[in-house]
Amino acid sequence: MTHHIAFYGKGGVGKTTLVTNISASLVEACFEVMVVGCDPKGDSTALLNNSIKIPSVLEQIRNHTDLTLDSLVHKGFKGITCVELGDPTSSATCASAEISRAINELKRLQVFEQINPDFVLYDISGENSFAALHAVIRQVEISRLCVVTNADFKALQTANDVFGFLEQYNSEHETPILMGGLILNSISSSFEEAFVNDFSFHTNARTIGKVPRSLVVRQSELYGQTVIESIPKSNQSYYYRRLANQIVDTTNTIYSGNMPQPMSVERLRAWSLEWAERIYALENGLVSDGASI
Ligand SMILES: Nc1ncnc2c1ncn2[C@@H]1O[C@H](COP(=O)(O)OP(=O)(O)O)[C@@H](O)[C@H]1O
Ligand SMILES: [Mg+2]
Repeated sequence: MTHHIAFYGKGGVGKTTLVTNISASLVEACFEVMVVGCDPKGDSTALLNNSIKIPSVLEQIRNHTDLTLDSLVHKGFKGITCVELGDPTSSATCASAEISRAINELKRLQVFEQINPDFVLYDISGENSFAALHAVIRQVEISRLCVVTNADFKALQTANDVFGFLEQYNSEHETPILMGGLILNSISSSFEEAFVNDFSFHTNARTIGKVPRSLVVRQSELYGQTVIESIPKSNQSYYYRRLANQIVDTTNTIYSGNMPQPMSVERLRAWSLEWAERIYALENGLVSDGASI
């Protein structure tokens, strides 16, 4: 059985880095893996191909290329199947239609059946509001949605918006989208960890994996490779492998029913003010609730 897993979050939080490193960890563990890039930049699979961008599905549709399995998919690190949907070049509504069309081509050519992967990981851009996420959800049955964030408040706001989207979507559809977990990326201090943990607590979001900020990620990016490929024995590789294990576990267990609840605009505002006060106390050496982080 193929599990389709979507990764979503604000631009720059580290989705592509996570998706490629998790894929590399899964392929090392002998799973058949496919990565589908749903980002107009078309760079989701570059780290699996020595930094080389592959021709996207939309590009080939626009150039009237004869679409075949071989023209759409490219084999990357240890045989990972790589696909880039490409740049929709239009507004949100049309972007969703264009991305749907690209996925439809994959379905028409029976790419999923022929490759028969254990996992398909979708690296979904947070640009165009929810257009790309909508398109993927409409076209494929997503087993789990993983939301990626770092400790920037704007990234947490986006995560909160995704929880709102999920709540709305699940109230309107018979088959709900299940939450795979909130992934905390690029954590560099106990303050950041406490901040994001508190966000998870207030939104009832289950956290899977905390990935530290590390220079080896930048180093590997400069090599044009994943950390798993370039520095397989690093601590950072261990975090990615652990996360890959957790993802295998969550997809294999019966869903626990834990759904995140978004904070209302007012609640989020009050929560952010509480944290602003804590930072003030921390900076000024005051003894107050939560300032010991
Ligand atoms: N854990 C990390 N430690 C250090 N740098 C990171 C980490 N995760 C991502 N980055 C860096 O942050 C930048 C954005 O990451 P990327 O995966 O491209 O984000 P996204 O796909 O969400 O836009 C990249 O330069 C990447 O190397
Ligand atoms: Mg990206």
